[in-house]
Amino acid sequence: MELIDLQLETIEAEEQRDIARELDTSGESRTLKDIAKGLKASLKNTEGFTRLDALNRIGNQVFALDANKPHNFVTPNAPVNYPHIWTSSWFEWVQYDGSIMQPMVRNAGEALGVAALVNLEDDEQRFDSTVKVDELHRIEQMLAGTEAPFRARTFTGLKAPAWPEAILGVIDRERAAEGRSLYRQHCQGCHLPATDDPAFWSERYWSVRNDNGERLLRLKIIPAGEIGTDPAQSRVLADRRVDTTGLGIDTVVYRGQDCTPLQISDSSDASFAFSLGAVVQETTDYWYRQHGIGSDGQQRMNGFRPNCLQAPGGYKARPLNGIWATAPFLHNGSVPNLHALLSPASERPERFWLGNREFDPVRVGYETGEAAGLTELDTRLPGNHNGGHEFRDGEGPGIIGPLLSESQRMALIEYLKTL
Ligand code: HEC
Repeated sequence: MELIDLQLETIEAEEQRDIARELDTSGESRTLKDIAKGLKASLKNTEGFTRLDALNRIGNQVFALDANKPHNFVTPNAPVNYPHIWTSSWFEWVQYDGSIMQPMVRNAGEALGVAALVNLEDDEQRFDSTVKVDELHRIEQMLAGTEAPFRARTFTGLKAPAWPEAILGVIDRERAAEGRSLYRQHCQGCHLPATDDPAFWSERYWSVRNDNGERLLRLKIIPAGEIGTDPAQSRVLADRRVDTTGLGIDTVVYRGQDCTPLQISDSSDASFAFSLGAVVQETTDYWYRQHGIGSDGQQRMNGFRPNCLQAPGGYKARPLNGIWATAPFLHNGSVPNLHALLSPASERPERFWLGNREFDPVRVGYETGEAAGLTELDTRLPGNHNGGHEFRDGEGPGIIGPLLSESQRMALIEYLKTL
């Protein structure tokens, strides 16, 4: 409820009248009220403690509200769990679907999504904004650390939290060692060697460099059909279209693994992914001009990476350092604890409640019982599906390894606590 109010409050009364008038004259059946109603209903299923549909929200904020084009509004349908951000400054591609390369575009895009103001009117201040580009850079530096990790063979920025043995119990080292060999056998092929394993620092994984010669970590991106988890989020950038006529977009972004240049201009049927990348870039470019930042400074603040975008239709497998602290699991938070994730989907809870802060150190996640004020997650609803990434016998989409015995699951969990 509060989220909706906030979003609607960002529209001034004057603008609301304009939108309503426009809707009347365009004969659209959807009024602001309908939008609000749809939003309210969808938020119940997609948003709450630990989760929201970040990408569609950004799209709605920028292309429906900021651009004053209500027909660009879509009902949020692809919730994600708030991601943990340690280590990710050094990934070649970030976001759950491995879609964005440049730190500044990622961060400034997020700022626009949470309602930083941007001028999309047709005047000289077009793309002027309240985005604090210098602060975003400062935060990114704090997260990334002072040294390039491949050279230092360690991460100096934000670190994954260590399992607090004094509070949550002593780790059984013998079981953890058993878990380590299971990890090497069943997990490493996708999630890479653990960050505390010397093998992690192989050039094989740090196979790409940014424009400053610093190596970045190349993660595996697995097609949604193969990993079998809920596909909705992987489709947003690939499928959503927006009307950008009159916004004055005129810039080059880069596309795909090879970062091929792509001219972006206004269009009544534009790719959301590239249009968003372009608007964010125009916004940061405006800030750079306004503050007299030359190309060297821009490069540095952009993390020495081009504004390269892709919509691979899959999900990335990130290293699992600190994963114990990040429940619920999967991009959409549809699996409440590690034990459930290592169990066949039929054994995972179909409905559970989010927002409880009591930690379960055995299954490794939060308590999920029903209580007043908590968010219900019903995995039967679209966007919330909890299938895929399954270890069970048989073959098929989403089955990525053999059934693990109870004792193997517990050994793996014991090991994951050490990462
Ligand atoms: C075939 C490749 C593959 C294998 C093998 C694999 N994973 Fe994953 N894993 C992924 C992908 C891709 C995701 C992201 C899926 C999503 O979010 O929808 C993921 C997500 C996860 C997550 C959730 C991460 C988060 O931020 O919520 C955990 C935990 C995890 N894997 C643990 C494991 C463990 C433990 C093993 C071995 C027993 C394993 N995985 C084997 C590809 C794999």
